[in-house]
Amino acid sequence: MTETIIIVGAGHAAGQAAASLRQKGFSGRLIMIGDEPYVPYQRPPLSKAFLAGELELERLFFKPENFWPKHDVETMFSTRVKEIDRKRKTITLDNSEIIAYNKLILATGSRVRELHIPGHTLKGVHYLRGIDDVLAIQSAFKKGARLVIVGGGYIGLEVAAVGRKNGLDVTVMETESRVMNRVVATEISQFFQNMHAEEGVKLELGRRVQELQGDKNGQLTEVACMDGFTVPADICIIGIGIIPNIELAEAADILCSDGIIVDEHCRTLDEDIYAIGDCTRHPNPILGRHLRLESVHNAIEQGKTAAAAICGTPVAYAQVPWFWSDQYNVKLQITGLTEGYDQFVMRGDPASRSFAAFYLQDGKLLAVDAINSPREFMLGKKLITAGAKFTPEILADMEQDFKTLATAALEVAKST
Ligand code: NAI
Repeated sequence: MTETIIIVGAGHAAGQAAASLRQKGFSGRLIMIGDEPYVPYQRPPLSKAFLAGELELERLFFKPENFWPKHDVETMFSTRVKEIDRKRKTITLDNSEIIAYNKLILATGSRVRELHIPGHTLKGVHYLRGIDDVLAIQSAFKKGARLVIVGGGYIGLEVAAVGRKNGLDVTVMETESRVMNRVVATEISQFFQNMHAEEGVKLELGRRVQELQGDKNGQLTEVACMDGFTVPADICIIGIGIIPNIELAEAADILCSDGIIVDEHCRTLDEDIYAIGDCTRHPNPILGRHLRLESVHNAIEQGKTAAAAICGTPVAYAQVPWFWSDQYNVKLQITGLTEGYDQFVMRGDPASRSFAAFYLQDGKLLAVDAINSPREFMLGKKLITAGAKFTPEILADMEQDFKTLATAALEVAKST
């Protein structure tokens, strides 16, 4: 019998897994099933160049559309898998079709966290996660329109930047006292707050939205906060985080805990079922703990890891996480995770919009936020992987060349 591998999901992780399986010589039946109507595509440009209308739809695609038939990948789009039967090794689709598998890869990704407040279904209220969301937003993304963004995270701030570039009147409402609270230190939040204020964004920190109000046609007109503060609005975009899609796995009794639990080869507790991408909680030997990551880099690397394991050439997943964000003329590149840091060192002047921040724990480098500083980002990845250590005072000294400091720290890390 021909081996069948089914990939549930058709996002970045799924696309990479399918491509890697064929590249590694898997010649059996390969099926990729996704609930969106599109071939696997890249999400990062959605809140950047694609929203700005600077990128054609086809340029989002992870591979050209004909890649999948050419490599004999059977694709089913606008289709949901509703059940996994682990005993029979079958899945059931939403049209009740049953398909048997030998190996199953769950690449179910994540979905937006919804804000269930009065008025959340009014016309003009949007989330931004997929192509269709952006297409719906674009028609209202007009010069002079009043845009209120709920959430000052990655989505909120990237959308704010595109909004200002397109001449919209932009307000960001954030419940916390600073933006990007989840991922960066206070000093970096302050930099982004200053930059957005300079670009004309109205930042409303510490505001909790209570209600979205509309007119008699059901069109949004105003956003109202708990403290009585209100802002007139034509469009509201909500970006308050995401939730991993683990329900399908949970229903099949696959161990989950804020993510599908996998090992270093992306295998779940069922040896024939793998999970990859945003939906997983996985071990990271460099960071020494389990984590769930919302990143393209993780999706791609886990896609490769699962494919390698299935093809009998396993390579354990061991990567330092990295992320990026584009806002105005600023590229933020983050590597590592800041959790547990006890020292924070800035190199460079934030006013120049080119500087880097280093997070240390007992001198060991945990993470780097590089703002228009690709060299610090690239070296930072290597330094974190090597477990390099720094003396904060020396790292902060701008008289010292960073590359020289990094080379010395790498040498020491290698010899210890
Ligand atoms: P996020 O977690 O980055 O930010 C959500 C923000 O909303 C936080 O600042 C939080 O304090 C705030 N918030 C939560 N509840 C709120 C409420 N009721 N009212 C106002 N503010 C509230 O999530 P975001 O921005 O939605 O992004 C979703 C996902 O997309 C993330 O996984 C992110 O990593 C990914 N993404 C990544 C990008 C990148 O790497 N450049 C760009 C865009 C999105």
